[in-house]
Amino acid sequence: MNKAANLLSEAQNRLNKISAVAPEAAVILGSGVDVLNNLSESQSYSYKELFGIAPSVQGHKGSLELGRLSGKLIAVFRGRFHLYEGHDFETVTLPTLSLARWGVPRLYLTNAAGAINADFSVGDLMLITGYRDHMSPKWKEAGGLQAVKAPVVNCENELTAMINAHSLRRGVYAGVLGPCYETLAEVQMFKKLGADVVGMSTIPELQAAATTNIKAAAISVITNSWNNAKIHSHLEVVAAAQAASQRLDVILKQAILSI
Ligand code: HPA
Repeated sequence: MNKAANLLSEAQNRLNKISAVAPEAAVILGSGVDVLNNLSESQSYSYKELFGIAPSVQGHKGSLELGRLSGKLIAVFRGRFHLYEGHDFETVTLPTLSLARWGVPRLYLTNAAGAINADFSVGDLMLITGYRDHMSPKWKEAGGLQAVKAPVVNCENELTAMINAHSLRRGVYAGVLGPCYETLAEVQMFKKLGADVVGMSTIPELQAAATTNIKAAAISVITNSWNNAKIHSHLEVVAAAQAASQRLDVILKQAILSI
């Protein structure tokens, strides 16, 4: 067994010990996203104890919270691993794959993203309906033709039902390796390629989820906008994600309670 497969089966054993019954839904939180607090019967486990490693990025707590939302058992992964931290695809997808093995049926991925679409503003929330993969070395090594890969996002889900009620945007997420933000030329390229937002995560998790029975949906918090020449920072991204978290909290709770 290779290292990642070992880590996955160890994580699976730990999760099964924590609860023999799989949660009804799980959420993975991106940079600065702070939602689903005040779960009842809540227990917390560090990524270090679950996966043997901790996220290194500010705004990523690195803990799994297991608790109940109106009686429903849910799992909240507070923070994620990124390719730009030097982790491989297998490590980045450990939380997603371990949730799938646990038997969790629904996964909501969240992330912070920069707006490419000029109609989008900081604080907007966007349901990801497709993506452009400019980040996954795994697929590049395999010789995949990235630009035409069909989106694997499950577009019809509980979040779709909320587009009108909560003024959700919908659009295409361009994933880049990072960790630096885009040059003006890259922003112009993404605009031409039809991307609405750009970020550094989520695509590996969507791709991994698509190989399992877990149904994944993803939502971006627009934390910065590329409609001006301003240089953006991670601190700004984290602060904007925190500011939008209250709205996202309402939406996620509604989605989870509707399943
Ligand atoms: N670019 C890439 N990743 C990001 C951005 C961005 O503008 N904002 C938040 N994550």
